[in-house]
Amino acid sequence: MSVWDGHMGWLGALDAGITDRDMTTEEIARAEAESCFGKDGVVLEKDGSLGEGYRILAEGNAWRVRGGKTGLLYGVYRLVRHRLAGEKLPEGDERPQYGLRMIDCWDNMDGTVERGYSGRSIWFEGGRLTYRPERIRMLGRLLASVGVNCLCINNVNVHEPAQGLIDEMLPDLKAMAGLLRPYGVRLMVSVDFAMPMRCGMSTADPLDEEVAAWWKDRAEKVYAAVPDLAGFLVKADSEHRPGPFTYGRTHADGANMLARALRPFGGTLVWRAFVYNCMQDWRDTRTDRPKAAYETYQPLDGQFDDNVILQVKHGPFDFQVREPLSPLLLSMEHTHLAVEFQLAQEYTGHQIDLYYMPPMWDEVFSAMGKDRPVAIAAVSNLGRDDCWTGDPLALANLFAYGRYAWDPMCGAEETARIFIRMTWGFEKGDEDILARALMGSRGIYEKYCAPLGICWMVSPNGHYGPSPDGYEYQLWGTYHRADRDAVGIDRTSSGTGYLDQYPEEFQRIYRDPEKCPDEYLLFFHRRRYDSVMRDGRTLIQRIYDDHFEGAALAEKMAEDVKKLPFPERDRGEICRRLDLQVKDAAEWRDVINTFFRRLSGAEDERGRKIWR
Ligand code: GCU
Repeated sequence: MSVWDGHMGWLGALDAGITDRDMTTEEIARAEAESCFGKDGVVLEKDGSLGEGYRILAEGNAWRVRGGKTGLLYGVYRLVRHRLAGEKLPEGDERPQYGLRMIDCWDNMDGTVERGYSGRSIWFEGGRLTYRPERIRMLGRLLASVGVNCLCINNVNVHEPAQGLIDEMLPDLKAMAGLLRPYGVRLMVSVDFAMPMRCGMSTADPLDEEVAAWWKDRAEKVYAAVPDLAGFLVKADSEHRPGPFTYGRTHADGANMLARALRPFGGTLVWRAFVYNCMQDWRDTRTDRPKAAYETYQPLDGQFDDNVILQVKHGPFDFQVREPLSPLLLSMEHTHLAVEFQLAQEYTGHQIDLYYMPPMWDEVFSAMGKDRPVAIAAVSNLGRDDCWTGDPLALANLFAYGRYAWDPMCGAEETARIFIRMTWGFEKGDEDILARALMGSRGIYEKYCAPLGICWMVSPNGHYGPSPDGYEYQLWGTYHRADRDAVGIDRTSSGTGYLDQYPEEFQRIYRDPEKCPDEYLLFFHRRRYDSVMRDGRTLIQRIYDDHFEGAALAEKMAEDVKKLPFPERDRGEICRRLDLQVKDAAEWRDVINTFFRRLSGAEDERGRKIWR
């Protein structure tokens, strides 16, 4: 029995007794294999030529797994997955689609987690790295079981004393890296671009030789402590973070300078492309925030060093419920890219509302192509809560993320079903109910939130619950410009010109309001409330219908899911959150419908209750 009595997620059925002590990767692989398949059920054979991949071969009653160090571990977990999910065991090779499969934690050293909905930080408290080692190993085990290989442990907004992670706290970082290493998980650290100034220098100018030398020296110290550190992650010139713009330098100048410091040690510099004017005047209708990333980075294509990865959010705004693919992801032919998702449900229900993300990821990968980025990153939904993600159902997103990082074409529904089988082992009928709920959850949430791609009608700062005008007169560039006649932004060439950033085949999909897919209509076009949609309904009627329907569907979904035979440990949180979702969906419905009813004066054709 392990001393860790916490939730073991989708590995809950398997107690390999490994998380209470240090073991090598091979020992872990053997222990997992043995606890699932018995003593001689799996034969491990080292083969470094397979990289992180593995080969599985059937041998009489046993299985042979071939692979390098972590490949063996991944191969064993693949077998475990099939056994726990009651599926036919696989033969053949598998390799991950992306070499870098990261989770970015937005954890602060005071123990809080920015946009965290799963309790406090797993690794920080009181300005220090302080944690339960068995919990860290357990997390390593969970991540290895789905093939995630990198954890950036601190917030991209680097608040003091987090800069100390690559300074006086290096011994602690080293210890943490040691706990995760056997699970094939490498650490990454978010660094502050202006850190040299913390250490007494008068500038952080990336073209200043002394600054570059300072970072080289820093990298040397860091790699002496953690030789396999994956690298640094940087948020620069974004939302008041320091960056190269202060010195009139480009982001290629900034990123390359840091990348050159990491290069001798094999480190990667991940540079976020989340740059926009967060001090916009709402009266300014020329500036259009979704255009910002492309405008900043596209002209720099080809100028980034080889060990730089530009990390681009999947949409041009900020993890909204519905956004088109970021045009930057389609345009940087000569730059290494990572696509960034957000497992933390910042704008998608705070892990209270059910929101299973893979259907959205499917859209992203089908628009972008799986081969375009070289890396994949996701903002963490982890925390100190018993089940890691607050809502046990939100574990599905963590599980799915690992699977997609290996195989972005793995399929949303199949992934949901494997997760359900492994985690709860339901009968087929119950599995169907939960799989349907997960698969439908995004559509339901979308129906009761901001309508048809308009985004941003959430309460400011907290980002939970409706507030249609909450961001309307703010500095963040997030406007819907609803008046008594119309709503939405014209982003075609007759409007802000954002659409021009796309290749022609994308422009063709969105350009004509008569043909633009409904879910993106108000993202790309300004439409009158009485304009007629393709199905014959007016826009305003469609908004009302969606909101009544979304809230009703949430109620039905909650009713169905609450009947499922979850173990006691999970049932309480799941039901509590579903009840809240039902209440909050009704609030969304009423606030959004009333907002548009007051502006437009239009009645609901079906005479349902809209408050005055
Ligand atoms: C959002 C989020 C911030 C975060 C930022 C980022 O704006 O609200 O909390 O810092 O994204 O991705 O850097």
